[in-house]
Parts: sequence; C-alpha cells; structure tokens
Amino acid sequence: MIATRLHPDKQTAAQAIAREIADLIEIRSKSGKSTVLGLATGSTPLPLYAELIRLHREAGVSFRTVITFNLDEYEGLGPTHPQSYRFFMEENLFRHLDIPAANIHIPDGLANDPAKNCADFEAAIRDAGGIDLQILGIGRTGHIGFNEPPSAADSRTRRVHLDEVTRRDNSVFFGDLDQVPHGALTMGVATILEARRIELIAFGEAKAEIVRRAMQEAPSPSCPATWLQQHPGCTFHLDAAAAKAL
Ligand code: GLP
Repeated sequence: MIATRLHPDKQTAAQAIAREIADLIEIRSKSGKSTVLGLATGSTPLPLYAELIRLHREAGVSFRTVITFNLDEYEGLGPTHPQSYRFFMEENLFRHLDIPAANIHIPDGLANDPAKNCADFEAAIRDAGGIDLQILGIGRTGHIGFNEPPSAADSRTRRVHLDEVTRRDNSVFFGDLDQVPHGALTMGVATILEARRIELIAFGEAKAEIVRRAMQEAPSPSCPATWLQQHPGCTFHLDAAAAKAL
C-alpha cells in the first residue's frame, strides 16, 4: 500500500522531506547510531538537496553520522565527468555538508569488474545496517534508480541497459543523444525494497501517467515502480500536476 502526500509546490515538499531526514538523523545520533540514507539524482530531488544544505548551514544539522548510498551511475562516466552522478552529488549536495567522504557510496561507472563493484556495493549496504530512508524519483518508463522494464522484484545491484525513452529524456543534460551512455549500474528492486522507509518524489504533469500506473497497476516487471506497492512504508510525495491522473 503506497501512501500519498500532496504538496502545494516543490519547495513545500522539499521542506517536509528534509525535516523528516533531519529528525531521523537527530533521533539516531542521540543514541549513538548512524543514519543510512539512499539518495537519488535527476532534477526532482534538487529542491530537497538545497533544503538539506540550508538546514546544515542555518539550523546546525550535522551530517557527520550519515552514511549514503546512491541508487545508480552511468557506465563509462568517472567522477570528473559533469554528467556523472558522482559529480552531480558532489556539486549539489556533498561538498556543502560535513559528511565524511568515506561515508559516501556510489556505484563506480569506471569499474573494471562491474559485477564485483555491484556485489561490494550490496555488501557495504549490509555492513552499514541497511538503508533507513531511501529517496526515489521515477522515470517515465516506470524505472526506479535505473531499473528499466523489465526488472524483477528480486533484482539486485547490477549492470543494466538503458531504455531509449530514458536516454532521450536524459539527453537534455548531455546536450546530445549520442553522448548518453547505453548502460548503467543500479541498485536492484530488491535492494530498494529492503530500505526501511521509502520517499518517492514526483513533480509535474509529465509524471502523472507513470505515477498512476505505479500506484494502480498490478505489480509486475513491466513497470518496476509498481513493486513499491509491496513495501510497508512507501510514500509518494506529489504536486497537484503529478497527482492529476489519480
Ligand atoms: C534518472 C535517474 C532516476 C530518476 C529519474 C527521473 O534517469 N536514474 O533515479 O529518478 O531518471 O529523473 P528526473 O527527476 O530528472 O525526472
């Protein structure tokens, strides 16, 4: 069962989720525990990251006890490539916070042995005690992370082939479709579903139809976001445009 939370605008959604994250960090750090966050890229979480940076700067929220795992990375792109998700995360979040570099985990797009990199990534999540809170966006193909259709409920972190719809959607960031990688490394559906809490964010009319499918179609590999219906603590944070087809 997916819960929905309607927000008047992106900023209000960002503030609500950032507050939830800050509260979680505060509660856990009081009892000496770290907080494990699963993070997403794309344009959707940008207002959330801006708000987390504001809370750090203006409200003294510390990220020293936070451990992060990003959902995915393009194959072939390294940390200095402006379109790599490592670069995106450094620019839009990490370099503005006090999170220790050793606590940041992102699949390695340049790994010589991608299967080993994916297995090590899964092991690092387990060693950290599992993900407490996972942030998700949603792609128009129904992908979460880069789990394109078809993606099974028991899929783990692995190498995937990107859907042409996704390559075209993301080509706006690359300027040219030919520059968009064909492959990626992504957390699997099962990896995502193991997070204790999931907050999916979707804004704008372009997401309305896929939000409807994710919430209302029977769970199946052909729309990977439908697997979220099987999670006991998943909330969709929507603006009115993204909720239009519900
Ligand atoms: C990208 C990412 C996803 C993201 C989605 C939506 O390709 N791999 O994690 O949720 O596509 O992106 P946007 O937020 O820009 O719409």
